[in-house]
Amino acid sequence: MKKVRIGIIGTGAIAGHHIKSVQELENCELVALASSSKERAIEASSKYRVVAYRSYQQLIENPTIDAVIVCTHSGNHLAPVLAAAKEGKHILVEKPIEVNSERAKKMITACQEAGVQLGVVFQNRFSPGYLQVKQALDAGKLGKLILGNAYIKWFRSAEYYQKSHWKGTIAGDGGAALINQGIHTIDLLLDSMGAVESVFGKIKTVKHKIEGEDLGVALLTFKNGALGTIEGSTAIQPGYPERLEIYGEKGSIILEAGNIVSWEIEGEESIAHNGQANSSGSSKPLDIGHQLHKAQLRNFVEAVLNNDRPLVDGPSGTKSLSLIESIYLSAKEQKEIFL
Ligand SMILES: NC(=O)c1ccc[n+]([C@@H]2O[C@H](COP(=O)([O-])OP(=O)(O)OC[C@H]3O[C@@H](n4cnc5c(N)ncnc54)[C@H](O)[C@@H]3O)[C@@H](O)[C@H]2O)c1
Repeated sequence: MKKVRIGIIGTGAIAGHHIKSVQELENCELVALASSSKERAIEASSKYRVVAYRSYQQLIENPTIDAVIVCTHSGNHLAPVLAAAKEGKHILVEKPIEVNSERAKKMITACQEAGVQLGVVFQNRFSPGYLQVKQALDAGKLGKLILGNAYIKWFRSAEYYQKSHWKGTIAGDGGAALINQGIHTIDLLLDSMGAVESVFGKIKTVKHKIEGEDLGVALLTFKNGALGTIEGSTAIQPGYPERLEIYGEKGSIILEAGNIVSWEIEGEESIAHNGQANSSGSSKPLDIGHQLHKAQLRNFVEAVLNNDRPLVDGPSGTKSLSLIESIYLSAKEQKEIFL
């Protein structure tokens, strides 16, 4: 069986989830890593027994690599993606695709022109609970959708921001609570409810000493006529599991940290459980585990092998970013924004 040979760019916090995922899947193998930090490059090289380059350019020039996973900070996705596309590498990039949609568009165009696959990591699209929701929606089980809500009342410590040079900054993170943490559930909201027609947003920085927001709310009107709300924060203690609520004329579904906690559909047995919650990043970023990253990587690798589009491709992975940008703009201009 042909294996997709993978290089990972950036060896910070999330890279570990990707390394484990690559190592556990049969149809891909880890060939090299690139880290801008000399110590981490040396450490990673001996730990994973692969070549560790000091720059992503060197990694991309390795002709044996088929695909790269970009795990640098959010405002530094564009440069490695453009360079990798130019060398004909397929690309899986961490969320958000970049810190604004203008930069995202350049990445999508470069990948299209180079004929390489571009996937964006939104691993929650692969959770068994969400896949069940998606199936029910595709089958029209909820009837006409009337309301959709995304609530991400998470907590991050002062140290979380202080020890990072990019988190909570506009250049490095694009903002904070909505674009970094809330974006996962906002992505699911858009994937289940459809496109947004207009948004009215407000953002504040209430707790942390950061440039971006640590509290944001938005009122949405979807193109299908449904209404919706978003509440996102990294200032709510102790941090609660994120919720996705979908309401239609024929029923309601509520997911909490990817777990179905309410399933009430006309003609179907209801599900209401408060069982063991899935692991969530509500207060500790890496508590999410790597299993959903692995599920998304499997989909990406299969897309590369079959010359197919990954489930979350560039345009699909940009929708949540565009909505969040509109929330920021609405908050700044204090008016409803039409997308
Ligand atoms: N999918 C998820 O659930 C999830 C979770 C956490 C982070 N992320 C995303 O992953 C990305 C990285 O986040 P993190 O928390 O791992 O950040 P981090 O700061 O821990 O790691 C970033 C790494 O990139 C390296 N880097 C930066 N520029 C580089 C360059 N030019 N060449 C090589 N290496 C370079 C840095 O040395 C650092 O090791 C962000 O976009 C973030 O939003 C996603």
